[in-house]
Amino acid sequence: MPVVSTPSSLRPADSALDNEEALRIRNDFPILQQEVNGRPLVYLDSGATSQNPTCVMEAEQEFYEQRNSAVHRGAHSLAVAATDVFEDARQTVAGFINAGTDELVWTSNATEGINLVAYAFSNASLGRGGEAAERFRLGPADEIVVTEMEHHANLIPWQELAFRTGATLRFIPVDDDGGLRLDEAERIIGPRTRILAFTHASNVLGTINPVDQLTALAHRHGALVLLDACQSVPHMPVDVKALDVDFAVFSGHKMLGPTGIGALYGRRELLNALPPFLTGGSMITTVTMEKAEYLPAPQRFEAGTQRISQAMALATAVNYLRETGMERIHAWEAQLGERLVAGLEQIPGVRVLGPKAGVERIGLAAFDVEGVHSHDVGQFLDDKGIAVRVGHHCAQPLHRRLGLVSTTRASTYLYNTTDDVDAFLEAVAGVRPFFGVSS
Ligand SMILES: Cc1ncc(COP(=O)(O)O)c(C=O)c1O
Repeated sequence: MPVVSTPSSLRPADSALDNEEALRIRNDFPILQQEVNGRPLVYLDSGATSQNPTCVMEAEQEFYEQRNSAVHRGAHSLAVAATDVFEDARQTVAGFINAGTDELVWTSNATEGINLVAYAFSNASLGRGGEAAERFRLGPADEIVVTEMEHHANLIPWQELAFRTGATLRFIPVDDDGGLRLDEAERIIGPRTRILAFTHASNVLGTINPVDQLTALAHRHGALVLLDACQSVPHMPVDVKALDVDFAVFSGHKMLGPTGIGALYGRRELLNALPPFLTGGSMITTVTMEKAEYLPAPQRFEAGTQRISQAMALATAVNYLRETGMERIHAWEAQLGERLVAGLEQIPGVRVLGPKAGVERIGLAAFDVEGVHSHDVGQFLDDKGIAVRVGHHCAQPLHRRLGLVSTTRASTYLYNTTDDVDAFLEAVAGVRPFFGVSS
């Protein structure tokens, strides 16, 4: 398939990227070449959305120029070509997380993937799916468990599922530093737990959660596990089989791909037993005026005309990441994250959320500047060409728990350098003096 890409340079697989290589990688990203407010753009908002290398944009364009057609339906050559690239893309993305090709369902984003599972559970709870769907049926005696550090995308769908089924939603609390209370997890997860949904890496704290420990605990009680891998799949090697999770979700736009595409991984036997969420064309075998029979996974979850160019472009992004090396990207971002946190900790009046310097984290840091609203911090940085995220980062309960309403977040990716981090730190050091709140 024509989704092979070549990053600017390749290094041995066991070394982290470095500044020189990050700069070469940056050349593949046209958007990063611009100036913002008269300064070279320093893009530190990849945790929200990452940028696209040229090869990803070209893959999408090539699809529309050469193959645009609906998949799985037509007998003509273009439809066959479109179906081929669509299914090849699935194989590439599934392989990236060590899933089977039939275990990867295309979604619009991670949010849709979580909603798909939550709605499928409530359809099962209404009796859909027959005996095979028994294990997805929830009622008032059952519990759904999440954590206090979840993105709203991995919280609200479960609140709604609890509402629809009468199940109880419980959460594993965080401590004052934002660490997950594993002692509480042992108490909360029990025989009533039917599903545990938690984030692999926190989009606010940068914490990497112990997936193996939590998954083993949930499985010991017969519960299913959904992993929000939005902040891990783009940044580190993720093997869903080794992690032993039952479902996992991630978004293409956070991993160098386009918007409008994401994926849900589900264990084969679970996906084939789970009643569909969206229904309509392309997901059925036979339909009468009274009822329909559904295709096996993944098609049973892909109703309607699909996101074909986006799937192809995401596969191109995956090839780009893979060729660069996920271990090397992870190691580089760990260095950048450490530099971010260590630098922020030195700035008077700045409180960093999550693990302290020296403790493992992904390459992002959210922080509060005492006496200055995060929106003012964001605007001050933007004036210097530095793009960061401000607000609650879709994690209001976590912010409330840590006694804050909003924070500023800097998040790195493979195209960032230590110069980016240093420019950011120098600018943050100027925030309180600028707003006249220094002590
Ligand atoms: C941890 C986490 N989960 C879920 C999401 C939701 O992703 P999307 O908006 O692409 O569905 C995000 C996005 O910021 C995230 O960081």
